[in-house]
Amino acid sequence: MAFPFKMKAQFMMVHRIRTALLALMAANSLAASATAQDTKPAADADKLFAPIAGVLRDPRCLNCHPVDDRPRQTDERRLHQMNVVRGPDNLGFVNMRCNACHRDQNNDHTGVPGAPNCHLAPLSIGWQ
Ligand code: HEC
Ligand code: HEC
Repeated sequence: MAFPFKMKAQFMMVHRIRTALLALMAANSLAASATAQDTKPAADADKLFAPIAGVLRDPRCLNCHPVDDRPRQTDERRLHQMNVVRGPDNLGFVNMRCNACHRDQNNDHTGVPGAPNCHLAPLSIGWQ
């Protein structure tokens, strides 16, 4: 599933999308348990999860959810420029901390996307 907007300008949207997604997951698990009495619960659960899986696999989400220590950029999931790495607390390493560049808001002068408390998702929820 592709996002209907350019993610770069909408970097801050991820928090809202994530909240919506979590609500959707909660609603789906309710629906899944409601259908558990039905004859085909597994098929229904697969159908319910498909749109969620599509969002989770979007490159703009995966960029912060890698299974290694390097954030990615763009739809091509290129390695983050300037050799940025995860660091011990997911917030970057020494003087290359995420919030040194990614502030709360998008920066229209430098083009650096903003996100409050920007950091890499922990390895435990690295998806690809
Ligand atoms: C700027 C980096 C970043 C991007 C981009 C990002 N995430 Fe995350 N995500 C995180 C971090 C960090 C966490 C771990 C929780 C935390 O520390 O806030 C997380 C956690 C999650 C979780 C686990 C639930 C939770 O709130 O802890 C889900 C689900 C999730 N992200 C989905 C998404 C989706 C879907 C997208 C794309 C729309 C996305 N993420 C894009 C950084 C990001
Ligand atoms: C030295 C400055 C700097 C640091 C430090 C930094 N970033 Fe970035 N980041 C950038 C710039 C510049 C871009 C690209 C903006 C563009 O595409 O024009 C970017 C892009 C990104 C993107 C891609 C956004 C997209 O939609 O393509 C993600 C994700 C990201 N950074 C996460 C992180 C994380 C996580 C950290 C810390 C581990 C971090 N960055 C540290 C400057 C930095």
